[in-house]
Amino acid sequence: MPIFKRLLRVSNRSFLAFIFFFSLSTSCLYFIYAAPGIANTYLFMMQAQGIMLRDNVRTIGHMIRFYTIKNNTINGTDYPDGNNSSELIAQPTTYLPENFTYSVNLPCPEKLPSMKGLIDVNMTEITLEEIYRNLSKNMHINPAGHWKPDDCQPRWKVAILIPFRNRHEHLPILFRHLIPMLQKQRLQFAFYVIEQAGTQPFNRAMLFNVGFKEAMKDLDWDCLVFHDVDHIPENDRNYYGCGQMPRHFAAKLDKYMYILPYNEFFGGVSGLTVNQFLKINGFPNAFWGWGGEDDDLWNRVKFAGFNVTRPDGDLGKYKSIPHHHRGEVQFLGRYKLLRYSKERQHLDGLNNLNYIPEIRIHSLYKNITVNLTPELAPIADY
Ligand SMILES: *[C@@H]1O[C@H](CO)[C@@H](O)[C@H](O)[C@H]1NC(C)=O
Ligand SMILES: *[C@@H]1O[C@H](CO)[C@@H](O)[C@H](O)[C@H]1NC(C)=O
Ligand SMILES: *[C@@H]1O[C@H](CO)[C@@H](O)[C@H](O)[C@H]1NC(C)=O
Ligand SMILES: *[C@@H]1O[C@H](CO)[C@@H](O)[C@H](O)[C@H]1NC(C)=O
Ligand SMILES: *[C@@H]1O[C@H](CO)[C@@H](O)[C@H](O)[C@H]1NC(C)=O
Ligand SMILES: *[C@@H]1O[C@H](CO)[C@@H](O)[C@H](O)[C@H]1NC(C)=O
Ligand SMILES: *[C@@H]1O[C@H](CO)[C@@H](O)[C@H](O)[C@H]1NC(C)=O
Ligand SMILES: *[C@@H]1O[C@H](CO)[C@@H](O)[C@H](O)[C@H]1NC(C)=O
Ligand SMILES: *[C@@H]1O[C@H](CO)[C@@H](O)[C@H](O)[C@H]1NC(C)=O
Repeated sequence: MPIFKRLLRVSNRSFLAFIFFFSLSTSCLYFIYAAPGIANTYLFMMQAQGIMLRDNVRTIGHMIRFYTIKNNTINGTDYPDGNNSSELIAQPTTYLPENFTYSVNLPCPEKLPSMKGLIDVNMTEITLEEIYRNLSKNMHINPAGHWKPDDCQPRWKVAILIPFRNRHEHLPILFRHLIPMLQKQRLQFAFYVIEQAGTQPFNRAMLFNVGFKEAMKDLDWDCLVFHDVDHIPENDRNYYGCGQMPRHFAAKLDKYMYILPYNEFFGGVSGLTVNQFLKINGFPNAFWGWGGEDDDLWNRVKFAGFNVTRPDGDLGKYKSIPHHHRGEVQFLGRYKLLRYSKERQHLDGLNNLNYIPEIRIHSLYKNITVNLTPELAPIADY
């Protein structure tokens, strides 16, 4: 009997061990094969935190001070006030009063009474037709989503470029929030959805270069906003005009707990004037797959002598539509490429790009479909 018991105990234990290792290996396999996006996001967060801890302990202290001492951005509608807490503080808080009268011949102000602050984000799936019907009830929208204010002169002519592949349900959700916001900001704007056809890994940066070249054929845009389709702004005071310096609009993402993951982070939504974009030779074309191209853009901007500005306080908050980069591969060669950002800047970008677009005009955007391959952006070895 005791012998039997001992036997049983042993086999029990090994059975448990078997269960343990089996579930461990299946969950590893799950992350490697079934849901690489989750693993990607996780790895990115780990990297981001590593960088933040190493280089940027200052930022954390700053955030803590900011949220405990300055307690006036609870609404997200106010600029933080006070004198002296470095780059988070800027600009006076005076938005114009409701009774402000517009003048047809004067530039629209930047701080309009129509910009109220928080946007109600509604992630419910909805059709483009429904959005278009609702929006065109109040305002006349021209084909390709082109709109401009009629009671003042728009301060900026903004081309919104959206790289795209397989996210049809995201577009209407983005338009639903973005169009009313841009109208409240009285900007002139139109949308360019640049869709990647073919089977190559997603090349977000090259799509932006294509979108830029196509957009400039339509109009003399002066400001470019590079916008991920799954980033929904939460505050309509996040002004989508450009400035003296390149701007990073998406400073606080809900998926990174509303903290800038690292100081050089330049992803999600960013904006450059046409002249700034030409000066840096656009985005790099060499980043095939997910990640790295935004860091390279940051390097280009820095090498060109620019500093990046960000919205103050909570104005730069965004919600992301969840999707986990499903079906997209991570670009593992990015660290090697990033080491040679400077050498590559004037070899790879707007100046070595060829493509053959297929263009359709939709009521809310221009659809630029393009099959991308590495041969379209030739570059000698570097
Ligand atoms: C921050 O504001 C909230 C609500 O306005 C208030 O309850 C809280 O006590 C404030 N915290 C500090 C540290 O002032
Ligand atoms: C939120 O905004 C409203 C209206 O703008 C204001 O009256 C209120 O004091 C604000 N609350 C906080 C906590 O800032
Ligand atoms: C800003 O600083 C000045 C002195 O430099 C001080 O008199 C003033 O009270 C400060 N204002 C705020 C809001 O802290
Ligand atoms: C801001 O703080 C620094 C020291 O941290 C001080 O030298 C400077 O005078 C302050 N500026 C204002 C406007 O208070
Ligand atoms: C607009 O309203 C403010 C108060 O909100 C008032 O002081 C100002 O005189 C008004 N201006 C006009 C032109 O009515
Ligand atoms: C979100 O949008 C859907 C579709 O338009 C609508 O039915 C729903 O009521 C909205 N939800 C909120 C909280 O506004
Ligand atoms: C339609 O427009 C109204 C205001 O004009 C807005 O309240 C409503 O949320 C909009 N619905 C959709 C589905 O966008
Ligand atoms: C960018 O920021 C750095 C450090 O804050 C400053 O030294 C430099 O002058 C700035 N460059 C421009 C062009 O403003
Ligand atoms: C863009 O046009 C292509 C055909 O040229 C079509 O297959 C694709 O679905 C369109 N994409 C969008 C977002 O409208």
